[in-house]
Amino acid sequence: MTSTTTDRTTTASAPDAGPAGQLTVRKLGAHIGAEVSGVDLTQDLDAATIAGIRDALLEHKALVFRDAPLDDAGQQRFAGYFGTLTTAHPTVPAVDGAPQVLPVDSERGRANQWHTDVTFVQAPPAISTLVSHTVPEYGGETLIASSAAAYRALPEPLRNLADQLWAVHTNEYDYADKAVEAFDEKSKGYQEVFQSIAFETHHPVVRVHPETGERGLFIGGFVRRFVGLSVTESRDILRLLQAYVTKPDHLVRVSWHPGQLVIFDNRITQHYAVDNYDDLPRLLHRVTVAGDVPVNAAGEPSRAVKGDASHYTAAERAASAV
Ligand SMILES: [Fe+2]
Repeated sequence: MTSTTTDRTTTASAPDAGPAGQLTVRKLGAHIGAEVSGVDLTQDLDAATIAGIRDALLEHKALVFRDAPLDDAGQQRFAGYFGTLTTAHPTVPAVDGAPQVLPVDSERGRANQWHTDVTFVQAPPAISTLVSHTVPEYGGETLIASSAAAYRALPEPLRNLADQLWAVHTNEYDYADKAVEAFDEKSKGYQEVFQSIAFETHHPVVRVHPETGERGLFIGGFVRRFVGLSVTESRDILRLLQAYVTKPDHLVRVSWHPGQLVIFDNRITQHYAVDNYDDLPRLLHRVTVAGDVPVNAAGEPSRAVKGDASHYTAAERAASAV
């Protein structure tokens, strides 16, 4: 095995942080992940630093800032460098007083299922940011996988199949997936809020990234079936394609410390919150940057089938006005 860890340093001035900063990007794996240091995210960033972070995000898909003790205002400022923010979520309430901040709270549910954020709407977020507030003393890592690496690894016949498929994404919970007894009252209540507006969107299974042109498998936990296939057929094919996304070679495992920020490109990744911390509390805050409507290689866009998300992003408002 050869080492894939490299250092790459770029210089960017940071006038509000004093002397010129050094943005250092250290790769964490062959296909995804880098750790960024040398920049103080609690201060305003200049254009060169923002451009450096954006380039690193497009290349590495997930970036870890180990020392980023941001409050909600700071997290919203940082995420806002990369585009217009969404509201917190299409259905789940925001943190009190911070309408663009979603609490990711172990008390309300655990996202231990592979997914891409909010793919049940027509224009899912382009970018997600997470800041840690309470972390368990062990466990609670986030796995982030490259769906581009997954697509590249597909044998040609499977790639051809994926290229043709469209997936039905919905936030309506698939109760067949989990024994009813497994729900406690809290998680039942959260599920009700989560699906209080029913959304359904048809997305191409192979999405072309709007900035890099890279192709990736755009599937994950909100997929219920593929257009034109039965639920049974869909499950088998989804399991087959997901296995390429979740292959350990294609992911980075991020451990959390208090005051850490992770940013990932939601257009070409999936993630999973590992549920291995018993009943310890875990609280992250999430702020997302609005995305555009996905397209496949032929330029065909996703189609909204059910649910009005115009309160969630400007792109959804524009799409619903057409
Ligand atoms: Fe998520």
